[in-house]
Parts: sequence; C-alpha cells; structure tokens
Amino acid sequence: MRTETPQPIRLTDYRPPAFLIETTELVFALEPNTTRVKARLTIRRNGEHAEPLVLHGERLKPISVAVDGKLLADSERTIDAEYLTVPNLPDAFVLETEVEIDPEANKALDGLYMSGGRFCTQCEAEGFRKITWFADRPDVLSRFTVRVEADKKFHRLLSNGNLMESGVLPGGRHYAVWNDPFPKPAYLFALVAGELDELADKLVTMTGRTVDLKIYVDPGMSDRAAYAMDSLKRAMKWDEEVFGREYDLDLFMIVAVRDFNFGAMENKGLNIFNSSLLLADPATATDLDYERIESVVAHEYFHNWTGDRITCRDWFQLCLKEGLTVFRDQSFSADMRGAAVQRIKDVKTLRARQFSEDQGPLSHPVRPGSYLKIDNFYTATIYEKGAEVIRMLKTLIGDEKFREGMDLYFDRWDGHATTVEEFIRCFADVTGEDLTDFFAWYEQAGTPNVTLKHSYDADTRILKLDLTQATAPTPGQPTKRALPLPVRIGLLDGEGRTQAFLRDGTALDETVVVLNGEATSVTFTGVDAAPVVSALRGFSAPVTLETDAQAKDRYVQLAGDPDLFNRWEAGQDLARALISSRASGRPDEVGEERYAEALGRGLADQAADPAFKALLLSLPSEADLALAMKPADPGAIHEAREALRTRLALHLEDDLKRLHIGLQELGEFSPDAASAGRRALRNATLDLLAANPRAEVITLADGHYRAAINMTDAMGGLNALMLLGGEAFDSALVDFYERWKSEPLVIDKWFALQGRDPSDGALGRVMGLTAHPAFDQTNPNRLRALISNFAANQAQFHDPSGSGYRFLADTILAVDGFNPMTAARLVEPLGGWRRYTPELGTLMKAELQRIAATEGLSKNVYELATKALA
Ligand code: PHE
Ligand code: ZN
Repeated sequence: MRTETPQPIRLTDYRPPAFLIETTELVFALEPNTTRVKARLTIRRNGEHAEPLVLHGERLKPISVAVDGKLLADSERTIDAEYLTVPNLPDAFVLETEVEIDPEANKALDGLYMSGGRFCTQCEAEGFRKITWFADRPDVLSRFTVRVEADKKFHRLLSNGNLMESGVLPGGRHYAVWNDPFPKPAYLFALVAGELDELADKLVTMTGRTVDLKIYVDPGMSDRAAYAMDSLKRAMKWDEEVFGREYDLDLFMIVAVRDFNFGAMENKGLNIFNSSLLLADPATATDLDYERIESVVAHEYFHNWTGDRITCRDWFQLCLKEGLTVFRDQSFSADMRGAAVQRIKDVKTLRARQFSEDQGPLSHPVRPGSYLKIDNFYTATIYEKGAEVIRMLKTLIGDEKFREGMDLYFDRWDGHATTVEEFIRCFADVTGEDLTDFFAWYEQAGTPNVTLKHSYDADTRILKLDLTQATAPTPGQPTKRALPLPVRIGLLDGEGRTQAFLRDGTALDETVVVLNGEATSVTFTGVDAAPVVSALRGFSAPVTLETDAQAKDRYVQLAGDPDLFNRWEAGQDLARALISSRASGRPDEVGEERYAEALGRGLADQAADPAFKALLLSLPSEADLALAMKPADPGAIHEAREALRTRLALHLEDDLKRLHIGLQELGEFSPDAASAGRRALRNATLDLLAANPRAEVITLADGHYRAAINMTDAMGGLNALMLLGGEAFDSALVDFYERWKSEPLVIDKWFALQGRDPSDGALGRVMGLTAHPAFDQTNPNRLRALISNFAANQAQFHDPSGSGYRFLADTILAVDGFNPMTAARLVEPLGGWRRYTPELGTLMKAELQRIAATEGLSKNVYELATKALA
C-alpha cells in the first residue's frame, strides 16, 4: 500500500493566484538528454499579502534561481519534488531561473519529450511544470516569448504565435524566436523541433486578412495532410459563419506526432495532433478516420475561441471549454455530413462511453467537485455529456437567444479565465430567465430515467401524457433533484403519418415539453386518431426513456417516423428487447422474423440515405446491451446477439447480396459523406452475411478483401473474414501485415482487429501479440489498439476464468511504471464490476484490489482503482 494517502484538490478551496506573471521569456537549448531551459518572468504580487512565491516544478534539475539579477543562495529559496518557494519578495520583480531536463527519458509523454527523433511538448493539464518553474494553473495568463536553439538537424523550430527572428549559431546550431501576443496560461504553450515536411495553404478571413496555414508531418507524408488542411479551412469558414468568430493570428500551424497520450491539443497557434487523427489517404485510412480527422481538426481549431481566448479559471471548469467545443464540433460535422446520421452516431458514442461511466463507481458531474489527478477527468462525462447540456440549453432558449448568449460570452470574457457559472449567466442575461435550476445539470451526476405514459380518449380526441423523472444515487450524491428536461414530441397515426395536434390552442406537428419537476402532465387536443407517440426526438435530453409504447408502435416508427433519430431508435429498442429475451432463455422467434421483415423494408426504402441504412442494420453493441441487462452476462449477450444476427442474415440474404453487388464502387475514391455512406452500407451487408458462415460467404468476404482498393473496404473484408474465422482469415492477416508493415497507422488497425476478435482463444492470441516485434507498449496508439480493443471485446475479456481481467491488470501495472496517464485510462473496463454477474464481478474486483495494493502506484491509477472499489 502507499504510505501516504494522496489528498484531493477541491473546487471549494479555489483561491485567486498570489502572484501574476505578466511576461514569460524562455530560452530552450535543446539536447535529447540534457536540455537547458532558462526562464525570465516578470512577476507582480496579486493583492495585499505577504505570502511567499510558490511555483510548480517537477523532475527539474535546478541550475540557478535569481531575483532582479541577484543569484539566490540555497537558504533564500526552497526546492522540493513539487515546488520552488521564494519568501520575502518585493511587490514586482523579475525572476530568472535555469533548469535541466531529460526529454529522451520522458516516456510519460507529458512536458517536453521526444517522438520519432523530434522534440515536442504536451502541457495540458499540468505538463508545463515538467519544463520549468511556473504558476502552472489556467488562471495565470502571460505573454510568451520563446527562443529555441538546437542542432541544425532539428530542422524546424516551432513555438506559439509569430516568428520574430531566426538564424544560425556556432557549432552547427541554429535558433528561432517566437512571440505570442495573446496572453495565455502555460497549458497552451507548445514547442516542436525536428525534421518535418510542410504542407502550406492560405485562407482569407471574413475581414479580408490572409492567414498562413501550415501542417507539419513526417518527411514524405505531406500528401496525407491534404484532408486535414481541407477540413481546417472549412472549419475556419464555418466558425465565421455560424458563430461570427474570426481567426486572430497571421499563422496557424498543426504538427502531427506519433507518440501522444490523447487525440490532439489546442496549443495557441500550434496545435499538436496524434498522427492517427491527422494523416489520411484512401489506401491507408478508413472513412471513419476521415470523419474523425474532420471533427478533431475542427474541434482543436474551435478551441481558439472556446479554450484559448477564453480559458478556464481552474480545472474544475474543464467542461467550459471541452463540452462547449464538442458541441461546436458536433454542430460542424452535422452541417458537413447530415444532421440525422451525425446525431445517431453522437448518441451511440454517448451511450457507449458516458452512460456506462455514469452507471459505475466513476460516475461524476459534468463539473466535478474534487480530484486527485485532473488527467483522470478528460472523460466522456465532461466532453460528451458536457456537449449534451449545451444542446439542451439551446433547445430550451431557442437558436436566436443561444447565439446572442454566445456573442455576449465572447464579448464579456475574451482574454480571461472564467467559470461555468459565468458562461450560464450570459444566457440568463440575454433571456431574462432564471437558469439556476438548469445549472444543476453541471453539478449532479447520473443519468435521469424518464417515464412516459399516454392516455387517449377517442371521443374527446384528447391525448394526455404523463412524464416522470428519477435519477439513481451516484457516489457521494445519495439524493437527486429533478432537472429541467426538454422532451421533443411528435405524433404519428397508425399508418405512420404525422398527426397534427393542438397544444394550448396552437396547431403543431411537433413540440418541446419541458419536464421541470419530478412529474409533469400535458394535454394535446384535436388528436384525430389513436396516436403513436414519438418522444425524445433527436435525443433531446441525455436520459434513458421508458414508455408504454407497444412493439406495434415501434414498428410504425421504424417504418416511417419522420424524425430519423427515432426511426433508428425504434429499431434499436426492438432489437434490444429481442436480444434480452433470448439472453434470458425466452427467444421470441416470431418477433425476430417480424423484425427481419421490417429491416428488409427499411433497406428497400429508396428515399433513405445509405449511411442511415447502415446504422439501421447494425444491432446495439454488446456493451450497450450489457447496460440494460441486470446483472450483465456478457457470454449470454454475445450468444443472443449472434443468434439474432444469424436470423437476419438468413432472412435477408437475397437483399444483402443484391446490395453488396449493387453498391460496389466503380469510380474514384472520394471521402465525402455520401460515398462513405455507400461504403458503410456495403460493409454492413457483408458483416451481417458473415453471421451465417458458409463456404460461399467466405468466398464473398475474401473477394471483398482482395478486391479492395481503399482501406475502408479492406478493413470491411478483413473484419468479415475474422467473424468467419479459419484459414481464409489467417492468410488474409498475414497478407495484410506484409503489405502494410512499414505503415504504423495501418499496423495499429491490424492489432486492433485482433484485439476485437470474438472467437475463443482470443486472450492467448492477444498475449502472443504482445511479444510481436511490432508491439510497443510505450506507444499509446499501439498499446490501445491491442489492449483497449481487447478490453472492449465483451465475450472474450469477460472469460469466466478471469484471465482477461488478470491480463489487463498486469498491463496497467506495467504501463504505470512509465506512463501513468495512459495506464489510468485502461482502468475503466474493470470499473463496472458491480454491473456484472457476481462470479465475474468478484474476479474483476480482485484485480482492482491487486492494483490498488501495489507499491509505488501513480496517483492517476491509484485514484481510479480506489474509486472503482469504493
Ligand atoms: N484539450 C485536448 C482536447 O482538445 C485534450 C487533451 C487533454 C490533450 C490533455 C492532451 C492532454 O480535447
Ligand atoms: Zn478539446
């Protein structure tokens, strides 16, 4: 066990900074093992007090500390593992320090480190303190000037802002000086140095300024940055048009690196990306990669206003920038790719990641109240639920007031660090509404459960809807309050036609009912026929919904609900019910046939978008089904889901084969949404056909794989072969590896696919792969490809022997030794132990206990393992 229990940081303990740092001048003398960092900070006391200056600093080798030009003796300052403390300072002074650091040895990928022979940085949330002593907190904003010196073989020398000067130095070295005119917190600092190719473009902004755009990538890879560049330009224009936001500097740069703990980072004027979210061409990237690149490039760019110009007062306010920026990138993707399909995909992600988090011991509010390591709070709750909360706000106050409130927010807070309260206050100010109740969405954890009952009187043509809400307790929050919940509702008749109705005398096709307390009733009049109630359209609130709808109502919706989200959802609900009946030993074969019939009609619908049909064809995931089954039995769920897939494959065989042929692509590859939708549907047909394995289907899948001229189809074929198993799969795997062994991003896919393999013996194969020469646990992409995919492989990870759990725990402990942030992100799959059958839950818990009891554990893993056990 650890000797001391780490103490949590609490929101209620927030104090304004004791000192402000007005300007920051840094000089980096870069060397892989012995980088020297000099800092010259102009500092001012904040308010009247006599406190010492306390700066953060970790893993720094002290060289010197001086105040106003005078070197301090050891007795005049204290240096420990976390801080530099200097007492007895004047109200304004210049602090000069020099430290030495070892980027090459930094495998935590936090601070300054080496990736692929290049220097790069990652400072959010608390990495800057591993570079130099500083007030490493988001409410200390400073103007940075950065001089970078290095050997000339580190060809590009980049930092934030504008290039002021560059030149040569003696000894084969060179330098560059960068200045960022916008005050920023240290977490937005970035530096990159090394051999990189450049893709350059320009954009003229709404006021006619020309901005230089540059993307830096591995030598020889600049063609693969073209899609990211195109996405960037579209995102910049979109932010001007939709939010009135113009880019501010004259230069915007993005750098791709292969070793990165997260997805990408919004450093001011110099975004750094995981190369998996930047590089794409048809041969090596799938449509999903293209889709993600578009959305993440936009996300990081949008942070320039929601994150950089306006930042967070403290890390409890993380959703202020993340929830809002996810909302903005989701809106962008909806405009680029179609709102309905985008919404369905976003809700799938929300359910898979956030709903499961919210049902377990790691459940926390969108704005948490305490943490041990903020790195652990880059969660689906803060990002995805944070975005849902803003979407609800917009639904409640309307598009115009939402835009007005955003304008006020940009106006009022530009150049400052602020809080979620202040963000919401902007909307209260523009609407004149009291949004106190709404604010509870930020403070209360848990997913509300909403029930809806309807009663219709054919004589009076009155429909009454009764809604209730309740939220189950979550850790630290035993009692819950009712939240204001927008429920978008429309009515259909028995034939699936839209039925108009009257609400308070106004004729409507659709309305938003706000469920404000624990229960609300509404009455609609003029309802001519017995209605099918289409509720929670567009998933208007992040809740679970239980209604009194019958299967026949769901079939009406599946056939033609004009709200495409609910049309899709009706299919998912029907499938969920059929699979859980089967999993609990009561298969409903008649129901399954009927479901297959209905899907067949959905596939035949000429008006429907192929991307939508692909979503219609895919059953709820095993993880999603596990959330609904109490206690969850992953083996039974897998069997039942496969049985339904087999029935669908049998029933729809002719349709599926016809589509598979008909959708074959003849022209050139285009990554646009419509083309991607057709490929998705074609791959979905093959995936379903593979549920009924026969020689004929193996030939089909093999042909699909071999004929593929883009990665989307190659992976579609390989995936189907995996489901079919056997020799064809084995030889395709070998073929794939040989073909792509020099392409790390493609080899990540090869590892990921094998991690997902649901067939027996998966763990043995995964363990074997950890000894493969291409496996490298210090690279987060490679590690996650194999390990996280295996931990999401419901049927195999939850093997009754517990060996999957043991393997994951061993991996977490090994990785924690050098990269705590990434190790901690592997803990979550064990966190849900209470939701599983007692046999499995006990085994999962035992592994968490073993982790928690390990000597020398990082705070990151300690926090998650102990919370998961609490
Ligand atoms: N702020 C990054 C984003 O855009 C995420 C991130 C957090 C990246 C911490 C690296 C480290 O969402
Ligand atoms: Zn972000």
